[in-house]
Formats: sequence, structure tokens, C-alpha cells
Amino acid sequence: MKGIFITFEGIDGCGKSTQCELLKDYLKDNGKDFIFVREPGGTEIGERIREILLDKKNSRMTARTELLLFEAARAQITDEVIKPALEEGKIVLCDRFFDSSSAYQGMARGMGMDFVAGLNMAATGGLKPDVTFFFDISAEEALARRGKRGEASDRIELAGLKFQEDVRKGYLELAKDSDGRIVTIDATLGIDEIFKVVKESLEGKI
Ligand code: TYD
Repeated sequence: MKGIFITFEGIDGCGKSTQCELLKDYLKDNGKDFIFVREPGGTEIGERIREILLDKKNSRMTARTELLLFEAARAQITDEVIKPALEEGKIVLCDRFFDSSSAYQGMARGMGMDFVAGLNMAATGGLKPDVTFFFDISAEEALARRGKRGEASDRIELAGLKFQEDVRKGYLELAKDSDGRIVTIDATLGIDEIFKVVKESLEGKI
């Protein structure tokens, strides 16, 4: 692959979307060839799967169904969008990728991190991000931020505080075993300070 693949991860309300926006602006200002996508979604099929996944009416969805839907959306975006862009040498920014399934479904939903790792592999054909930013914050602080923004909760966010704490635990475990792929950033720092770390981590890579 000629391009570079960068992903953004963290619990709900960690501030990663703000950092995605800053990096997009930075790349634009520097004339870089990049695309930005989000998971679940980013393709016509993926956006339809996203609606099913986040719909509050779907309270009967089992953990296995949820996991497989995330993986299905991922398989589609990987083949349809991410791999072709990387082959063309583009920078690909992705708001969430397979680490989300490991942390949310593997750890917090209790499906098992190893089990999810196998499905991640199946969905991506082994494609891995070059750099993953994990914006680390406690569930309480993230909730307080979301409250401030007055955002309506989706089906996953409705799972509650303990769920988000478990998601965080999952990410911390992934970061420990990632051989440096996952860059953990204290998400309680100021927006500019965080972006400085993001930029520094990408030096020489983009
Ligand atoms: P979204 O509105 O995109 O949240 P955010 O802005 O925080 O990324 O909703 C995505 C939700 O789906 C979010 O709660 C995380 C969850 N999710 C999983 O549980 N597993 C996954 O594999 C992915 C990609 C997302």
C-alpha cells in the first residue's frame, strides 16, 4: 500500500471528531491528497447498516448481530473505499475502525477480544492502520462533555456509564499490545495541545 492509513478511536464524547476536523483542515492547508471516512458508514451500504445499528428502536438486537453488522459495514468500506484510496497513495483518515469493535463489542459487550480480532481480520483482509490515535478520557468526563453539547444519545450511547468504562478498559488493553501503532493521548488536555501531539506523531509520515 502506497498511502497512509490513520484512525481515530475513543469512547463516546472523547473529542476525537474535533481532532479529525483539525487534521482535515491541516492536510487541506498543506495541499495533501486525503480522504476522510467514518465507521460505521462511509458507503451507501454502510450508511444503511449504520441506521440499523444506531436506531434506538432496535432494542432487541443481540450482541452477535451487532458485532456482525459492524464487521459487514467495515468489509464494505475497506474494499470499496479504503484499500483503493491507499493503493492510489492517498492519506486515509477514518473516524473509528476495527479497534472500536474490539473495545465496544469484544470488551464492553463481553464477546471477547480474541474472538473479535478474528472477525476484524475477516472484515479487513488483514489491513491495519499505520497510526491509531486513542483519545483517552474517563466515562464520567466524556458524559459531562456530551451533556454540555446536548446531544441525543443513540442506541450504543444509551448503554450507560459502566459500558463506556469497559470500552475504555478495552482500548487501554489494545494500546498496551499494539507495538506502538496506537498512540494514547490524554483527551482532558486542551484542544490545541492535543492537536500538537497528533501532528508530532505524524511527523515524517504524512
Ligand atoms: P457515532 O455517532 O459515529 O459516534 P462517535 O461520534 O462517537 O464515533 O456512533 C458510532 C457508535 O458505534 C459509537 O457509540 C461507537 C459504536 N461502535 C461500536 O460499538 N463498534 C464499532 O465497531 C464501531 C465502528 C462503532
